[in-house]
Amino acid sequence: MAKKTLFTRRQTLFFWLSTFASLSLLTSKNAFNPRQIDPLSRKFVASGNMSIGKRALIKGLSYGAAVNKNSLSSNPQLAASIDKECVIIVPEWELKWDFLRPTSTSFDFRPADWLAEFARTHGLLFRGHTLVWHEALPTWFVKTINSHNARQLLLEHITTVVKHYAGNIHSWDVVNEAINLQDGRSDGLRKTPWLQFIGRDYIEIAFCIAAEADPKAMLVYNDYGLEYDTPEHEAKRKAVLNLLKNLKSKGTPIHALGIQSHLSGDETRFNSDKFQKFLSEIASLDLKILITEIDVKDKNLPVDIKVRDRIVAATYEDYLSVVLNEPAVIAVLTWGLSDRYTWLSEYQPRRDGARVRPLPLDANFKRKLAWNAIARAFDNAPQR
Ligand code: G3I
Repeated sequence: MAKKTLFTRRQTLFFWLSTFASLSLLTSKNAFNPRQIDPLSRKFVASGNMSIGKRALIKGLSYGAAVNKNSLSSNPQLAASIDKECVIIVPEWELKWDFLRPTSTSFDFRPADWLAEFARTHGLLFRGHTLVWHEALPTWFVKTINSHNARQLLLEHITTVVKHYAGNIHSWDVVNEAINLQDGRSDGLRKTPWLQFIGRDYIEIAFCIAAEADPKAMLVYNDYGLEYDTPEHEAKRKAVLNLLKNLKSKGTPIHALGIQSHLSGDETRFNSDKFQKFLSEIASLDLKILITEIDVKDKNLPVDIKVRDRIVAATYEDYLSVVLNEPAVIAVLTWGLSDRYTWLSEYQPRRDGARVRPLPLDANFKRKLAWNAIARAFDNAPQR
């Protein structure tokens, strides 16, 4: 009996706590910056039925999404939605080392080739992610790499992969997430096997190899944790800016910065002026900007979908309205298109077990307010 009562009491407590949390989140004046996120009163009406991809194209921009072969080949509704809404796709997994490199001497291009062919047959642009990263490395990698073979491994991988797609690739994330201030280096570089065995020039070397392998591809440095008005993100923006200035000063063939933009619906520390200034500083280096992996985590938002969807939509709109104001921004990709296939289900699940809702389409491929918000952001964007 006691156990049952306790469980009921705890359940009741949780119910009232979460209700209070939801109300205080929405009523307290500091919960949201009214200027940027006013989820309950905004209408999110997008005019007409035109796809996001077409709205972006009208402004001289590209919109697309991350896809993977497993879901795209097995779900016709997803394939139809990608075909309808996107003008560019990027493999979520298939161009990473753990998929491409079964052994230190072999390559398996089949999964990525399937996606490249999907892009070709559907008239979509195809971007590559990612040539050099400290994650998604095959099990043989850590056992194999050393200071004698690291350069050759890098040269062979980038040359083989970039040449394989030369002429059919929109852009490459050449180096991904090379900055990590927590590692304590004065240059902010993340302590990765590449840094350890090649030295800090590995980034410049990677871009030079990629440019040699495909002089036509746009070469991108991609990173996360740059978006918010927090001391950590401010410091990382400075470190990324310094890295890019250093690379440009040496004539490195780098053409763009990829800002991953994994946002949080409950994070209100977004300063549009500061972020706009960062974007223009990047542009002043003669670099383009891609929003490469945007989604909005709703893990800590109220469970009520009506409330949650509005906050997610407002987060997309307020961020993209600033981003698309910067003429150097050329593309926006969401990290997935439908809530049915999002990395956040596994990596950032909600404690209440409710399905997460971070993307423009719901799990049944129906457009959500987030879709409206992204569509409106492109409609309101200045013409390129
Ligand atoms: O495919 C294997 C499967 O054969 C195996 O049985 C299973 C065992 O766990 O693993 C499967 O691979 C997983 C892969 O996703 C495909 O599902 C890896 O374990 C898992 O780590 C991998 O996670 C991906 C992660 O990058 C690492 O590659 C996420 O789906 C993907 O969304 C995430 O994307 C990253 C970007 O590349 C960089 N920016 C951050 C972003 C989110 O973390």
